[in-house]
Amino acid sequence: MKRILLVVFAIICTTVVYAVDYANVIVPRPVSCEAVEGNFALTPKTVVRAESLSLVRAGEIFAEDLEVVLGKTLIVKKSSPRTNAINLSVDATTLESEQYMLKITNVGVWIVGGSERAVFFGLQSLLQIAAASPLSNDTLTLAAVTIADKPHFEYRGSMLDVCRHIFAVEDVKRYIDILALHKINKFHWHLTEDQGWRIEIKQYPELSHVGAYRHQTIVGRNRHSKVYDNTYYGGIFTQEEVKEIVAYAAERYIDVIPEIEMPGHAVAALTTYPYLGCSGGPYEVWTRWGISKNIFCAGKDTTFEFIENVLTEVLELFPYKYIHIGGDEAPRDEWKKCPHCQKRIKDEGLKDEHQLQSYFMERIERWLNERGRSIIGWDEILQGGISKSATVMSWRGSKGGIAAAKLGNHVIMAPNTHCYIDYYQTSDHKANGEPLGNGRFPVTLRKTYDLDPYVGLNEEQQKFIKGVQVNLWTEYISTFDHLQHMLLPRLAALAETGWSYGNKDYSDFSRRMHILRKLYDKQGFNYAPYFFNGIE
Ligand code: ACM
Ligand code: ZN
Repeated sequence: MKRILLVVFAIICTTVVYAVDYANVIVPRPVSCEAVEGNFALTPKTVVRAESLSLVRAGEIFAEDLEVVLGKTLIVKKSSPRTNAINLSVDATTLESEQYMLKITNVGVWIVGGSERAVFFGLQSLLQIAAASPLSNDTLTLAAVTIADKPHFEYRGSMLDVCRHIFAVEDVKRYIDILALHKINKFHWHLTEDQGWRIEIKQYPELSHVGAYRHQTIVGRNRHSKVYDNTYYGGIFTQEEVKEIVAYAAERYIDVIPEIEMPGHAVAALTTYPYLGCSGGPYEVWTRWGISKNIFCAGKDTTFEFIENVLTEVLELFPYKYIHIGGDEAPRDEWKKCPHCQKRIKDEGLKDEHQLQSYFMERIERWLNERGRSIIGWDEILQGGISKSATVMSWRGSKGGIAAAKLGNHVIMAPNTHCYIDYYQTSDHKANGEPLGNGRFPVTLRKTYDLDPYVGLNEEQQKFIKGVQVNLWTEYISTFDHLQHMLLPRLAALAETGWSYGNKDYSDFSRRMHILRKLYDKQGFNYAPYFFNGIE
């Protein structure tokens, strides 16, 4: 008997039991979360009371999301009693623009935000609390709580490459839903590539027919393989579809940053219009992965004319201030041989091809600045020198971001070491049966969580770090199920660095993730199982 008791005791001690503290469940972790006596009975009769028309829309989105938890849809109204209600309001005088207060009391729920976006964040917290709360007889029992919350970083992003593989409009919207749940506020949309051009440009209709399609696609991860799938592949997002997606994101308070790549990763454009390249082609939309030597010619004025015409239409579609203009992985081989590029170097008094890339990027940046926009570029834009106003996205580790912050440029940290979620996510991808991924090194959930965007910077320099981002390249991802498998739960780890930097704790994050998982299940998100099964 004694032995049996000892065994039982040992089992109890070694089994991690996650006690559900019903309100202390939010990912990313709030600044403060104080339990109060009492609880609120949320029923199908509870009304969402929103003080403005756009908050009514935020309330409707919340009601739709809550339906998977409650099984019923709440009514949203502009005026109704404040009790047995979820009251939404803005107080821009006392709260910061992304700051919110969430109060659950015996008689109702109050969310006050410094802006409508902040109220939307409060609703995401409420949704997570609701999903963690007991449900019986159509009633959710919400534990009373007072939450005060605001993000650490203003930029919390997630990039999606729709060029290597394209995804349906509905899938992109679902991707945006996932970002919204985690209080991600920037969707970086990678739209042009060697392997496909994905945005309709009315002045250049051939991009939709030529640049948007490749004859076949290499199979597997070996870039030098001779095995192809023999399948014509591609597609385009029409301008109407782009508008629909940007509007969908805007309703969820997410800014969309389009990326139009230059001077490299341009083979799809060059195939469509060979005059855009140094040699004049012919070119072929790429059917394999890697870095092509064929890039935009920096010597011909017709290249800049093309890019400016494309950007003119892009600016009409994307209202947010920032435009990403790429700048990564542009080999200089063709520029070295090209008389136009060499003449440009001479005429502009440039030292070499690195400075020619700086000339290229700065010329486009000036054009965008004149139209009230700002640029983001990958960390290669540092190489030949950059303007003070360019924002650097650090991807080859953090060193580019550190160098840029020391120069006084704004930085977004997205180092591949922590933020490339196309990489495998366990230390033994074969043993764990992971689907095909980028195999450079594993980026586990813990690794993503441990990102410290301030490493190597003093207090003054840290002010230039505007935020963090995960990047989802899709060379090996052709289905939306696989995409979600790569995105979740690592997006949650990134979200916590972006929102809760300075207040992170992996063991508490793990506890909350096991609770959030239930909402993932209810939403039908195809998250990766490894972490939840104790594998990293
Ligand atoms: C990149 O991953 N080439 C930015
Ligand atoms: Zn050239």
